[in-house]
Amino acid sequence: MTIAVEKDVNPNQSSEVEQKVGMTIGIPKEIYPGECRVAATPETAKMLQKMGFQVLVESGAGNAANFSDEAYQQVGCEVTSDVMALWNAANIVLKVRSPQFHPTLNRPETELLRPGQTLVSFIYPAQNPDLLEKLAAQTVTALAMDAIPRITRAQKMDALSAMANTAGYRAVIEAANHFGRFFTGQITAAGKVPPAKVLIIGAGVAGLAAIGTARGLGAIVRAFDTRLVVKEQVQSLGAEFLELSFKEDGSGEGGYAKVMSEEFIKAEMALFAEQAKDVDIIITTALVPGKKAPLLITRDMVESMKDGSVIVDMAAEQGGNCEVTKPNEVYRYNGVTIVGLTDLTSRMANQSSQLYGTNLCHLLTDMGGSRDFKVDLDNEVIRGALVSYNGDVTYPPPKPTTPPPAPAQPTPQQAVQPIQAQNAQQPSLGFSKWFAPILLGSALVGVGLTAPPSFLSHFTVFTLACFVGWQVIWNVKPALHTPLMSVTNAISGIIIIGGMLQISGSLTSATTILGAIAILIGTINISGGFLVTQRMLKMFQK
Ligand code: NAI
Repeated sequence: MTIAVEKDVNPNQSSEVEQKVGMTIGIPKEIYPGECRVAATPETAKMLQKMGFQVLVESGAGNAANFSDEAYQQVGCEVTSDVMALWNAANIVLKVRSPQFHPTLNRPETELLRPGQTLVSFIYPAQNPDLLEKLAAQTVTALAMDAIPRITRAQKMDALSAMANTAGYRAVIEAANHFGRFFTGQITAAGKVPPAKVLIIGAGVAGLAAIGTARGLGAIVRAFDTRLVVKEQVQSLGAEFLELSFKEDGSGEGGYAKVMSEEFIKAEMALFAEQAKDVDIIITTALVPGKKAPLLITRDMVESMKDGSVIVDMAAEQGGNCEVTKPNEVYRYNGVTIVGLTDLTSRMANQSSQLYGTNLCHLLTDMGGSRDFKVDLDNEVIRGALVSYNGDVTYPPPKPTTPPPAPAQPTPQQAVQPIQAQNAQQPSLGFSKWFAPILLGSALVGVGLTAPPSFLSHFTVFTLACFVGWQVIWNVKPALHTPLMSVTNAISGIIIIGGMLQISGSLTSATTILGAIAILIGTINISGGFLVTQRMLKMFQK
């Protein structure tokens, strides 16, 4: 692959036309101090190439995340140390951090972008209006990965969640590192070690990841969140969900939290004050998007914690959930280690680059790949992330003007048909409604009058068994079908024994034939039950 450096680009030229001629993706090295992530790993670069893109990587871009230049070359990427050539050649620049001031080129990265080029990175548009103006002035098409709407369809592109997931994991690892004791309880020859108690405040993406990790390490985990919908998720991860008697749900728009009332915050702080005396580790992740992080752990609470305890304040960058947090610092306060790191994802650079790179691949697939690349303003995910387009700042995206789609209305023809059909059926419906019970009742009376007493006693048991069996099996919830299968297997076993007792007579007698059928059906039910159970168990085996 050769670097097709495009000079003298006409700003008015349609970027789509230019992009159709074999698109190149540029992966520059991140220049933000301490940033170890990279926007494409060798694995995701391969995926990009499969989509038809040529991938140009700056030499050393993946070093801090343990991806060597050779690894990129092995999957067919071109590696260059000419930074200017890379920015010039790329139709799309993929980055982790928003454009920064380039220390070696001595100019801002925004100046390296050219009109019509596409930039995809974290941008935080609400906090960076000046950057948006600059991007728009340069007619750069910019997509902010942090502005991808949190909707089901966009989950695979949701970089914020992917990063929060790795950060939540890392928060527990940092806590374990500073805690200096086991998470899991142990009984050893040298004595008994109690399990660590971990309190996690905020059970969003990062909080849930932290719960899973702390549980995995064997700690006793408690969690609190204002959104009651997360209770089951917390419990399914094996943690205890702490609740207040205070009735206020924190669920806001789009699956995010809403700002809580002062009374609620007071009540939850009283809960945390109690917990602080008991737990060894507190991990705080509480945040309402776009707002300063709520202050939930006061200086007094920290002072009430046991010596050697740890607080990891994941919201440090947004002001912190803990009063004594110092952003980007780890220090000891009154015997408690306070971790205010804001680069937890970067400390998991290999993993987070892989996840972020995959998010980017999904986004570019959604945009049509290399061949059909376009900015589709009707695509709610793309429109949500688009912050600069055609010389305009396109943030914030317009609120959907159309209300959520109403349930499909039947066409007039469809609407009329059932009524007609209903009308037509009404007389016969009335008759058929009574016909079956009357027929059944008459048949039973006939049997009762004519059948011998021995038959009648068997018949009564049979009828009752059918009724009870039907009611029992039909009303069982799907979640209980597995234990139900055991019960039906036991019943089938009884049926087989009954059938075996009946087939001792002549081969052609009705009793023998019915007994044989009972054995056959019972056997099918039992062996089928075992097969299904076996398959279900396999699903849970690692
Ligand atoms: P999220 O929005 O998914 O979760 C935040 C949770 O906090 C929500 O479940 C919300 O209901 C809960 N919450 C809000 N107010 C609360 C209150 N008063 N009491 C209890 N719970 C409350 O956010 P996500 O993605 O899980 O991120 C969590 C935090 O981690 C954010 O502050 C984010 O910026 C930060 N983060 C930090 C990183 C680092 O390196 N330090 C890296 C990635 C994320």
